[in-house]
Amino acid sequence: MRPLKIGMIGCGAIGSSLARMIHRDFSKAATIAYLADHHCERAHSLIKTLKLKASHTGIPELIEKSDLIIEAASGEVAAKVTPAVLQTAKQILVLSVGGLIQPGVWQKINRIKTGRLWVPSGAIAGIDGLCAAKEAGIQSVKLITRKPVAGLLGAPFFEKKKFPKLTGKKAVCVFKGTALSAIRAFPQNVNVAAVLSLASMGPKSTYVEVWTSKAYRKNTHEIEIEARSGTIRIEVQNIPSHLNPKTSALAVYAAAATLRNIFSNLKIGT
Ligand SMILES: NC(=O)c1ccc[n+]([C@@H]2O[C@H](COP(=O)([O-])OP(=O)(O)OC[C@H]3O[C@@H](n4cnc5c(N)ncnc54)[C@H](O)[C@@H]3O)[C@@H](O)[C@H]2O)c1
Repeated sequence: MRPLKIGMIGCGAIGSSLARMIHRDFSKAATIAYLADHHCERAHSLIKTLKLKASHTGIPELIEKSDLIIEAASGEVAAKVTPAVLQTAKQILVLSVGGLIQPGVWQKINRIKTGRLWVPSGAIAGIDGLCAAKEAGIQSVKLITRKPVAGLLGAPFFEKKKFPKLTGKKAVCVFKGTALSAIRAFPQNVNVAAVLSLASMGPKSTYVEVWTSKAYRKNTHEIEIEARSGTIRIEVQNIPSHLNPKTSALAVYAAAATLRNIFSNLKIGT
Protein backbone atom coordinates (compact mmCIF):
# COMPACT_ATOMS: atom_id res chain seq x y z
CA MET A 1 0.00 0.00 0.00
CA ARG A 2 1.27 3.51 -0.75
CA PRO A 3 2.00 5.71 2.28
CA LEU A 4 -0.85 8.03 3.32
CA LYS A 5 -0.35 11.64 2.26
CA ILE A 6 -0.49 13.82 5.38
CA GLY A 7 -1.49 17.47 5.29
CA MET A 8 -0.37 19.36 8.40
CA ILE A 9 -2.18 22.61 9.30
CA GLY A 10 -0.09 24.56 11.80
CA CYS A 11 3.70 24.26 12.03
CA GLY A 12 4.14 25.58 15.59
CA ALA A 13 5.17 23.67 18.74
CA ILE A 14 2.91 20.65 18.13
CA GLY A 15 2.93 20.63 14.31
CA SER A 16 6.71 20.83 14.01
CA SER A 17 7.38 18.22 16.75
CA LEU A 18 4.78 15.87 15.27
CA ALA A 19 6.19 16.32 11.76
CA ARG A 20 9.61 15.26 13.13
CA MET A 21 8.08 12.13 14.72
CA ILE A 22 6.12 11.20 11.57
CA HIS A 23 9.25 11.60 9.44
CA ARG A 24 11.36 9.55 11.89
CA ASP A 25 8.93 6.84 13.07
CA PHE A 26 6.12 6.44 10.53
CA SER A 27 7.81 6.98 7.16
CA LYS A 28 6.62 3.58 5.82
CA ALA A 29 2.97 4.36 6.64
CA ALA A 30 2.79 8.06 5.91
CA THR A 31 4.56 10.94 4.29
CA ILE A 32 4.14 14.63 5.06
CA ALA A 33 3.06 15.96 1.69
CA TYR A 34 1.49 19.37 2.44
CA LEU A 35 2.02 21.99 5.13
CA ALA A 36 -0.12 25.08 5.81
CA ASP A 37 0.77 27.89 8.18
CA HIS A 38 0.05 31.59 7.88
CA HIS A 39 3.64 32.10 9.05
CA CYS A 40 4.89 30.52 5.82
CA GLU A 41 8.51 30.66 7.03
CA ARG A 42 7.62 28.00 9.66
CA ALA A 43 6.45 25.60 6.96
CA HIS A 44 9.51 26.30 4.80
CA SER A 45 11.86 25.86 7.74
CA LEU A 46 10.32 22.41 8.49
CA ILE A 47 10.65 21.39 4.85
CA LYS A 48 14.30 22.46 4.90
CA THR A 49 15.36 20.96 8.25
CA LEU A 50 13.59 17.62 7.73
CA LYS A 51 14.42 17.55 3.98
CA LEU A 52 10.72 16.88 3.25
CA LYS A 53 9.34 16.42 -0.24
CA ALA A 54 6.39 18.57 0.80
CA SER A 55 4.72 21.75 -0.44
CA HIS A 56 3.48 24.77 1.47
CA THR A 57 -0.13 25.30 0.39
CA GLY A 58 -3.33 27.02 1.39
CA ILE A 59 -5.81 25.04 3.51
CA PRO A 60 -8.36 24.23 0.72
CA GLU A 61 -5.64 22.76 -1.52
CA LEU A 62 -4.16 20.85 1.42
CA ILE A 63 -7.56 19.25 2.17
CA GLU A 64 -8.13 18.38 -1.47
CA LYS A 65 -4.75 16.68 -1.96
CA SER A 66 -4.16 14.94 1.43
CA ASP A 67 -5.49 11.58 2.70
CA LEU A 68 -5.13 12.45 6.39
CA ILE A 69 -5.27 16.02 7.71
CA ILE A 70 -3.66 16.98 11.02
CA GLU A 71 -4.97 20.22 12.56
CA ALA A 72 -2.51 21.86 14.99
CA ALA A 73 -3.33 25.55 14.44
CA SER A 74 -6.24 27.03 16.45
CA GLY A 75 -9.79 26.39 17.63
CA GLU A 76 -11.15 28.55 14.81
CA VAL A 77 -9.30 26.48 12.22
CA ALA A 78 -10.49 23.22 13.83
CA ALA A 79 -14.12 24.40 13.86
CA LYS A 80 -14.00 25.31 10.16
CA VAL A 81 -11.82 22.58 8.74
CA THR A 82 -13.18 19.49 10.57
CA PRO A 83 -16.66 19.43 8.93
CA ALA A 84 -15.09 20.30 5.56
CA VAL A 85 -12.67 17.33 5.77
CA LEU A 86 -15.32 14.86 6.96
CA GLN A 87 -17.60 15.90 4.10
CA THR A 88 -14.88 14.77 1.67
CA ALA A 89 -14.85 11.35 3.44
CA LYS A 90 -11.23 11.84 4.59
CA GLN A 91 -9.61 11.47 8.00
CA ILE A 92 -8.72 14.34 10.32
CA LEU A 93 -6.80 14.37 13.60
CA VAL A 94 -7.67 17.47 15.66
CA LEU A 95 -5.48 19.03 18.35
CA SER A 96 -7.38 22.30 18.91
CA VAL A 97 -10.29 20.38 20.42
CA GLY A 98 -11.75 23.53 22.01
CA GLY A 99 -12.90 24.54 18.52
CA LEU A 100 -15.09 21.44 18.28
CA ILE A 101 -17.20 22.37 21.32
CA GLN A 102 -18.16 25.83 20.08
CA PRO A 103 -21.95 26.17 19.67
CA GLY A 104 -23.23 24.34 16.61
CA VAL A 105 -19.90 22.79 15.59
CA TRP A 106 -20.23 19.41 17.33
CA GLN A 107 -23.85 19.10 16.15
CA LYS A 108 -22.72 19.81 12.57
CA ILE A 109 -19.93 17.20 12.84
CA ASN A 110 -22.39 14.63 14.19
CA ARG A 111 -24.67 15.09 11.20
CA ILE A 112 -21.85 14.15 8.79
CA LYS A 113 -21.71 10.41 8.37
CA THR A 114 -18.56 10.22 6.25
CA GLY A 115 -14.85 10.49 7.02
CA ARG A 116 -13.20 9.82 10.36
CA LEU A 117 -12.38 12.23 13.21
CA TRP A 118 -9.55 11.37 15.61
CA VAL A 119 -9.39 13.24 18.94
CA PRO A 120 -6.25 12.29 20.92
CA SER A 121 -6.35 12.33 24.74
CA GLY A 122 -3.90 15.24 24.56
CA ALA A 123 -2.28 16.25 27.81
CA ILE A 124 -4.44 14.04 30.05
CA ALA A 125 -4.79 10.36 30.92
CA GLY A 126 -7.84 8.31 31.76
CA ILE A 127 -10.02 8.81 28.67
CA ASP A 128 -10.08 4.98 28.37
CA GLY A 129 -11.58 4.60 31.89
CA LEU A 130 -13.91 7.53 31.28
CA CYS A 131 -15.29 5.89 28.10
CA ALA A 132 -15.84 2.66 30.04
CA ALA A 133 -17.53 4.54 32.89
CA LYS A 134 -19.77 6.33 30.36
CA GLU A 135 -21.21 2.96 29.40
CA ALA A 136 -22.19 2.52 33.08
CA GLY A 137 -23.48 6.10 33.47
CA ILE A 138 -21.49 9.16 34.57
CA GLN A 139 -22.75 11.40 37.39
CA SER A 140 -20.06 14.11 37.47
CA VAL A 141 -16.72 15.06 35.89
CA LYS A 142 -14.38 17.63 37.45
CA LEU A 143 -11.05 18.91 36.11
CA ILE A 144 -8.60 20.97 38.15
CA THR A 145 -5.83 22.40 35.95
CA ARG A 146 -2.73 23.98 37.51
CA LYS A 147 -0.40 25.93 35.22
CA PRO A 148 2.72 28.05 35.78
CA VAL A 149 2.21 31.77 35.06
CA ALA A 150 3.80 31.47 31.57
CA GLY A 151 1.24 28.80 30.70
CA LEU A 152 -1.68 31.23 31.21
CA LEU A 153 -0.34 34.67 30.25
CA GLY A 154 -1.93 36.16 27.13
CA ALA A 155 -5.22 34.26 27.51
CA PRO A 156 -8.34 36.27 26.46
CA PHE A 157 -9.64 35.85 30.04
CA PHE A 158 -7.03 38.36 31.26
CA GLU A 159 -8.05 41.03 28.74
CA LYS A 160 -11.01 41.89 30.99
CA LYS A 161 -9.70 40.59 34.30
CA LYS A 162 -6.39 41.49 35.94
CA PHE A 163 -3.87 38.69 36.34
CA PRO A 164 -3.86 37.92 40.11
CA LYS A 165 -1.05 39.23 42.32
CA LEU A 166 1.00 36.18 43.26
CA THR A 167 3.16 36.09 46.35
CA GLY A 168 5.50 33.34 47.54
CA LYS A 169 4.23 29.83 46.89
CA LYS A 170 0.54 30.73 47.28
CA ALA A 171 -1.78 29.15 44.68
CA VAL A 172 -4.70 31.18 43.30
CA CYS A 173 -7.84 29.89 41.59
CA VAL A 174 -8.35 32.14 38.54
CA PHE A 175 -11.35 30.39 36.98
CA LYS A 176 -14.30 28.20 37.96
CA GLY A 177 -17.01 27.15 35.50
CA THR A 178 -18.05 24.84 32.70
CA ALA A 179 -15.71 23.40 30.06
CA LEU A 180 -17.47 25.62 27.50
CA SER A 181 -16.66 28.83 29.40
CA ALA A 182 -13.16 27.55 30.22
CA ILE A 183 -12.40 27.15 26.50
CA ARG A 184 -13.74 30.64 25.74
CA ALA A 185 -11.57 32.10 28.51
CA PHE A 186 -8.45 30.02 27.77
CA PRO A 187 -8.72 28.76 24.15
CA GLN A 188 -5.06 27.74 23.94
CA ASN A 189 -4.57 26.53 27.50
CA VAL A 190 -7.28 24.03 28.43
CA ASN A 191 -8.01 21.90 25.36
CA VAL A 192 -8.02 18.98 27.82
CA ALA A 193 -11.31 20.34 29.22
CA ALA A 194 -12.83 20.00 25.74
CA VAL A 195 -11.49 16.44 25.29
CA LEU A 196 -12.82 15.46 28.70
CA SER A 197 -16.23 17.00 28.03
CA LEU A 198 -16.63 15.36 24.61
CA ALA A 199 -15.80 11.97 26.14
CA SER A 200 -18.24 12.43 29.02
CA MET A 201 -21.09 14.80 29.90
CA GLY A 202 -20.66 17.52 27.27
CA PRO A 203 -19.15 21.04 27.50
CA LYS A 204 -21.96 22.53 29.62
CA SER A 205 -21.88 19.83 32.31
CA THR A 206 -18.14 19.30 32.81
CA TYR A 207 -16.78 21.36 35.74
CA VAL A 208 -13.38 23.09 35.40
CA GLU A 209 -11.09 25.03 37.75
CA VAL A 210 -7.87 26.75 36.66
CA TRP A 211 -5.17 27.55 39.24
CA THR A 212 -1.79 29.23 39.05
CA SER A 213 1.16 29.91 41.35
CA LYS A 214 4.74 31.16 41.08
CA ALA A 215 5.76 27.81 42.56
CA TYR A 216 4.21 25.71 39.77
CA ARG A 217 6.72 24.26 37.30
CA LYS A 218 4.51 21.68 35.56
CA ASN A 219 1.08 21.68 33.88
CA THR A 220 -0.92 19.51 36.27
CA HIS A 221 -4.37 18.09 35.58
CA GLU A 222 -6.42 16.45 38.36
CA ILE A 223 -9.54 14.66 37.16
CA GLU A 224 -12.33 13.23 39.28
CA ILE A 225 -15.09 11.15 37.70
CA GLU A 226 -18.10 9.85 39.62
CA ALA A 227 -19.96 7.09 37.77
CA ARG A 228 -22.31 4.22 38.51
CA SER A 229 -19.29 1.93 38.10
CA GLY A 230 -17.34 3.78 40.85
CA THR A 231 -14.92 6.69 41.21
CA ILE A 232 -11.91 7.44 39.00
CA ARG A 233 -9.20 9.86 40.19
CA ILE A 234 -6.30 10.80 37.96
CA GLU A 235 -3.41 13.23 38.30
CA VAL A 236 -1.07 14.04 35.41
CA GLN A 237 2.00 16.25 35.91
CA ASN A 238 3.22 17.39 32.51
CA ILE A 239 6.43 19.11 31.50
CA PRO A 240 5.53 22.16 29.37
CA SER A 241 6.71 22.06 25.74
CA HIS A 242 10.04 23.89 25.38
CA LEU A 243 8.58 25.53 22.24
CA ASN A 244 5.31 26.75 23.80
CA PRO A 245 4.73 26.92 27.60
CA LYS A 246 0.93 26.75 27.12
CA THR A 247 1.30 23.31 25.56
CA SER A 248 2.30 20.16 27.47
CA ALA A 249 4.92 17.91 25.91
CA LEU A 250 2.55 14.92 26.42
CA ALA A 251 0.03 16.38 23.93
CA VAL A 252 2.47 15.77 21.06
CA TYR A 253 3.11 12.19 22.17
CA ALA A 254 -0.66 11.61 22.48
CA ALA A 255 -1.08 12.67 18.85
CA ALA A 256 1.81 10.37 17.85
CA ALA A 257 0.16 7.49 19.75
CA THR A 258 -3.12 8.17 17.90
CA LEU A 259 -1.24 8.06 14.59
CA ARG A 260 0.25 4.70 15.66
CA ASN A 261 -3.34 3.46 16.19
CA ILE A 262 -4.34 4.72 12.74
CA PHE A 263 -1.41 2.98 11.03
CA SER A 264 -1.48 -0.26 13.04
CA ASN A 265 -3.86 -3.21 13.20
CA LEU A 266 -3.20 -3.57 16.93
CA LYS A 267 -4.83 -1.39 19.58
CA ILE A 268 -4.30 -1.82 23.31
CA GLY A 269 -6.63 -0.04 25.74
CA THR A 270 -10.31 0.86 25.46
N1 LIG B 1 -5.43 18.62 22.62
C1 LIG B 1 -4.55 19.04 23.51
O1 LIG B 1 -4.34 18.46 24.58
C2 LIG B 1 -3.72 20.25 23.21
C3 LIG B 1 -2.61 20.54 23.99
C4 LIG B 1 -1.87 21.68 23.68
C5 LIG B 1 -2.25 22.50 22.63
N2 LIG B 1 -3.36 22.21 21.91
C6 LIG B 1 -3.80 23.07 20.80
O2 LIG B 1 -3.12 22.68 19.61
C7 LIG B 1 -2.92 23.81 18.76
C8 LIG B 1 -1.45 23.93 18.40
O3 LIG B 1 -0.70 24.14 19.58
P1 LIG B 1 0.81 24.67 19.49
O4 LIG B 1 1.36 24.61 20.86
O5 LIG B 1 1.51 23.99 18.38
O6 LIG B 1 0.54 26.20 19.10
P2 LIG B 1 1.57 27.19 18.34
O7 LIG B 1 1.05 28.55 18.58
O8 LIG B 1 2.96 26.86 18.72
O9 LIG B 1 1.38 26.81 16.79
C9 LIG B 1 0.22 27.07 16.06
C10 LIG B 1 0.61 27.30 14.61
O10 LIG B 1 -0.56 27.38 13.82
C11 LIG B 1 -0.45 28.50 12.94
N3 LIG B 1 -1.80 29.00 12.65
C12 LIG B 1 -2.69 29.53 13.51
N4 LIG B 1 -3.82 29.88 12.87
C13 LIG B 1 -3.64 29.55 11.56
C14 LIG B 1 -4.44 29.67 10.40
N5 LIG B 1 -5.67 30.21 10.44
N6 LIG B 1 -3.95 29.23 9.21
C15 LIG B 1 -2.69 28.69 9.16
N7 LIG B 1 -1.88 28.57 10.24
C16 LIG B 1 -2.35 28.98 11.42
C17 LIG B 1 0.41 29.51 13.68
O11 LIG B 1 1.06 30.40 12.78
C18 LIG B 1 1.40 28.61 14.42
O12 LIG B 1 2.56 28.37 13.65
C19 LIG B 1 -3.43 25.04 19.54
O13 LIG B 1 -4.74 25.36 19.12
C20 LIG B 1 -3.44 24.56 20.98
O14 LIG B 1 -4.40 25.23 21.76
C21 LIG B 1 -4.08 21.09 22.16
